[in-house]
Amino acid sequence: MQTHEGMKALRVISVTSGKGGVGKTHLAANVSTLCAKAGLRVLAIDADAGLANLDVLLGLSPPRSHVGHLLDGATLDEVLLESASGVKVLPGAPGERRLTHLDAGDLRALVSIWDELAERFDVVLVDAGPGVGDDALFFSATGQRVVVLVTEEPTSLADAAVLLTSLRRTTAVREVDVVVNGVRTWRSAQAVFARLEGAVAHLSLGLKLLAHVPDDQNVRRAAMQRRPLVELAPTSPAARAFEKITQSLLEGPARVGGGVTVGVERQLGPTPPLPPLRVV
Ligand SMILES: Nc1ncnc2c1ncn2[C@@H]1O[C@H](COP(=O)(O)OP(=O)(O)O)[C@@H](O)[C@H]1O
Ligand SMILES: [Mg+2]
Repeated sequence: MQTHEGMKALRVISVTSGKGGVGKTHLAANVSTLCAKAGLRVLAIDADAGLANLDVLLGLSPPRSHVGHLLDGATLDEVLLESASGVKVLPGAPGERRLTHLDAGDLRALVSIWDELAERFDVVLVDAGPGVGDDALFFSATGQRVVVLVTEEPTSLADAAVLLTSLRRTTAVREVDVVVNGVRTWRSAQAVFARLEGAVAHLSLGLKLLAHVPDDQNVRRAAMQRRPLVELAPTSPAARAFEKITQSLLEGPARVGGGVTVGVERQLGPTPPLPPLRVV
């Protein structure tokens, strides 16, 4: 994507949640597939260090190398896979202890790798792991747009409130896009969003309700067939929602110039102390 001559615009979008199992990987798989279909050069990074399965949803054969090999000096071309729709995938490393305990050297190595990624892609989508561990926060804070998924379950909302608090306290993230998964109407999405907003009102975080994704049995069918929903059933209700989400995420100014390190730099900056968390 060219904004003006010679200047590259890169969009880095991270997808995260408090609680696991709320639909992050489906969202990442479908948004990245739609970006690729729109002709954008898109990279999906599976950064769920504990339970990496983006490659499974995109129908890729089991990866032989992963982000850990990058840290050990493998080149990008040695580790990147490509989905049927043209999404390049940096596979995760399920169960790799190293990736749930990144040290300062690893973080520096990742930052320099991501600079290289910025040269080669228009959109980078980060499927971040859930929760508030340092590594999950690191990957969550990397996006220029940070998408937090919630469902209407009180546990998901409570965990999302904790995540938002941690993001506000330990990273420089100040704006978050919320997607409510599994609700039928915009009205119910608004009700869920209002509860989350109320729980973190004291944080001075800019929260925006980006979209809702209806519960749709086609999502499970897509998972069973290991094909992105937007390929398998492009007119299904959830696929339409993913389309809308993709459009919103691609709207607005992209960052001009290379480098996906801004989130990292921001994260390392000091943040002021905040009052204690109010429970949902
Ligand atoms: N909108 C939806 N409708 C129906 N099932 C869904 C929907 N979103 C997610 N799921 C199901 O929920 C489970 C978790 O989804 P996944 O994307 O793997 O979550 P996460 O990456 O947050 O752990 C999967 O079994 C998936 O098929
Ligand atoms: Mg996942």
